[in-house]
Amino acid sequence: MISAHLIAAARPNFMKVAPLYHALAASDWCRPVLVHTGQHYDSNMSGAFLDDLGLPAPDHHLGVGSGSHAEQTAGVMVAYESILRDTPPDWVVVVGDVNSTLACSIAAKKLCLPVAHLEAGLRSGDRTMPEEINRVVTDAISDLYWTPSPDADENLLREGVAPEKIDRVGNFMIDSFELMRPRIEATRPRERFDLGDRPFAVVTLHRPSNVDRAESLGRLVAELRRIADGIDLVFPVHPRTRQRLDAFGLAADLAAHDSIHLIDPLGYVDFMGLVRESTMVVTDSGGIQEETTYLGIPCLTLRNTTERPITVTVGSNRLVKPEDLAESVDKVMSGAWAKGRRPDLWDGHTAERAAASLKRHAGA
Ligand code: UD1
Repeated sequence: MISAHLIAAARPNFMKVAPLYHALAASDWCRPVLVHTGQHYDSNMSGAFLDDLGLPAPDHHLGVGSGSHAEQTAGVMVAYESILRDTPPDWVVVVGDVNSTLACSIAAKKLCLPVAHLEAGLRSGDRTMPEEINRVVTDAISDLYWTPSPDADENLLREGVAPEKIDRVGNFMIDSFELMRPRIEATRPRERFDLGDRPFAVVTLHRPSNVDRAESLGRLVAELRRIADGIDLVFPVHPRTRQRLDAFGLAADLAAHDSIHLIDPLGYVDFMGLVRESTMVVTDSGGIQEETTYLGIPCLTLRNTTERPITVTVGSNRLVKPEDLAESVDKVMSGAWAKGRRPDLWDGHTAERAAASLKRHAGA
């Protein structure tokens, strides 16, 4: 029996790790060991996700918390290296593109342990995004690459990754959605947020490029107020964004609009229950571009680039500039938005394929 560390750190990691954790826990050849770096620590940014997704308390909690990029990355490296020295696993599975992904892959590789990167090969082409640096470095040193789409395979091949190390397995988040579907469908977001039977949009914003400067965040607030004249907005506010709205004196402006519902971040089940009932989503998230594509819900992404181009070429996602937001909302409301279709292998069986891939590569 081999062991594999599964690293979870920030909100978007939990729903990718959970299906693989369950698949390995049910196997007779691999023992999954859950490592939580503590990058996200508020209960509604991490604890609620563990509960919602049926994950146990982590085997190791590094408790690293917030800080500058260097502080956070270095903190995770130091804490994780000591766990690796005490109880080295046979494999380390890192997830996505957060600072902990980079930190744990470097710590593991320096101890010559094999690393599998879950959600490998995504590229926005924008190296001002911290996540892009994390993706490029992690993919330069990993041993096994699980990709969600053909564009990811192409990126890796172009960067010199050997084809036999790449396994296109699909999208893990869709597995989580299907695993939790009964509970997601049982939520009652309209009652909870007092929305009646009106159409509504879900809004999420947290990218530094959108929220860290008063000018860009102020402009987005003005555009959100404008579209809220025509449709209710339910906006679970990320802690980073909450801090910036308060610091720039913009929170009152948003809250003053009758149709804007500012709420705390939601757990996984409640959030997907809300998205599922929505008419559209306005976001700068990565994962939500994929979840909306799977559900065929129009997604208006407030970014200049996406590392998930298949959600645009195949799915229901479009990149939208702030000044074009109102026009895009009108397009959705008039039924002129392309619904798209589900990409291949986004079918709820990704974790099974990844587990089989790990078994093969580990010789287990
Ligand atoms: C991180 C990821 C980003 C991901 C996002 C999802 C990196 C570089 N960024 O960004 O890719 O899309 O998570 O949420 O890894 N905070 C809290 N409570 C928490 C977590 C954070 O209050 O539980 C506050 C911190 O004090 C900090 C801010 O939110 O000031 C940002 O947190 P941080 O983890 O540094 O980055 P995110 O913006 O969440």
